Amino acid sequence: AYIITEPCIGTKDKSCVDVCPVDCIHGNDDDTQLFIDPEVCIDCGACVSACPVEAIYADSDVPEKWKNFIAINAEWYKK
Ligand code: SF4
Ligand code: F3S
Repeated sequence: AYIITEPCIGTKDKSCVDVCPVDCIHGNDDDTQLFIDPEVCIDCGACVSACPVEAIYADSDVPEKWKNFIAINAEWYKK
């Protein structure tokens, strides 16, 4: 799955939502970022270039300092 990381916090541009073919990017108004549902994401990669702040990475490609966001994205969908 693809993962939304730190640069989304406080930005929440939401361009990623518009390009996702399976509508798997969500967040509440009071969340500081959006989250990708790892169970639904089809790894198309469309959201990567849509994001103006380069917040999105393939799970295999998340920078070391932001690896905790893999769990953060998944956890949101377990609530
Ligand atoms: Fe949606 Fe594709 Fe991004 Fe996954 S990789 S969140 S399916 S746009
Ligand atoms: Fe966040 Fe980028 Fe989407 S800032 S809401 S991941 S377009």
